[in-house]
Amino acid sequence: MSEGISRFENEGSLEPLPVAAGRAVVLRAVGLTKTYAAVANAAGNGGLELFRGLNLTIHAGEMVAIVGESGAGKSTLLHLLAALDTPTAGEVWCGDARLSSFTAKQAADFRNRDVGYVWQFHYLLPEFTALENVAMPLLARGMGRASAMERARVWLGEELSGGEQQRVSLARALVTKPKILLADEPTGDLDGKTAEAVFGLIQGLHRAHGLTSVLVTHNLEFAGRCGRVLRLREGRLEEGLA
Ligand SMILES: Nc1ncnc2c1ncn2[C@@H]1O[C@H](COP(=O)(O)OP(=O)(O)OP(=O)(O)O)[C@@H](O)[C@H]1O
Ligand SMILES: [Mg+2]
Repeated sequence: MSEGISRFENEGSLEPLPVAAGRAVVLRAVGLTKTYAAVANAAGNGGLELFRGLNLTIHAGEMVAIVGESGAGKSTLLHLLAALDTPTAGEVWCGDARLSSFTAKQAADFRNRDVGYVWQFHYLLPEFTALENVAMPLLARGMGRASAMERARVWLGEELSGGEQQRVSLARALVTKPKILLADEPTGDLDGKTAEAVFGLIQGLHRAHGLTSVLVTHNLEFAGRCGRVLRLREGRLEEGLA
């Protein structure tokens, strides 16, 4: 077994995460460009080009923060990485899979199996219990109810207090053991203390389960606590917080 693979399989270790260099590539974006043509027609000025030719490589075990001003295109970028949207040009690869070659069914399977997605707003289904919400992606892929609920319980944990719905969304995103966790301002809707708790929870889960995580955040303090920070500015991705 190669070193890369054995490290990749070392899930659940509480050892400090090794540096990214030499680790398996989980996600790679090449020459990613996103333009809104409809805006071009309305404004007649060549359109809204959010970014052009972005390159991005996410290695196994990395915790990457994406920061940038409102409207910079952070959510759009995350949508492209999750096969929730298609780029104007360029490619996103997850292992050998080229996202742009997916059929609608393959894209849905990719989102169910390989991506854990956390939205700024929790989007929990109110007619179901918290546990059922967490079990939903497993039920959606045909797992029996008893096994799905049992696995959901592991991720949700015991004490669920009133306002911690984001904890449930996080458990729901991770219950399928996705290859990558994508979180779009997961603390953006929370007060300072709750935001700190949820960020701490993400950090804890990231370490305990050897996750690969990409977090969009406006909170520069949280960003600084991630292993790597990327700033989306004027259509380019820059390394670091500067
Ligand atoms: N379907 C669309 N058609 C045209 N323009 C769009 C569309 N979707 C998003 N935009 C525009 O693209 C830009 C980037 O949006 P995006 O949501 O990716 O930014 P963001 O960096 O996530 O901002 P925020 O920090 O406010 O969440 C915005 O100006 C937005 O209005
Ligand atoms: Mg956004």
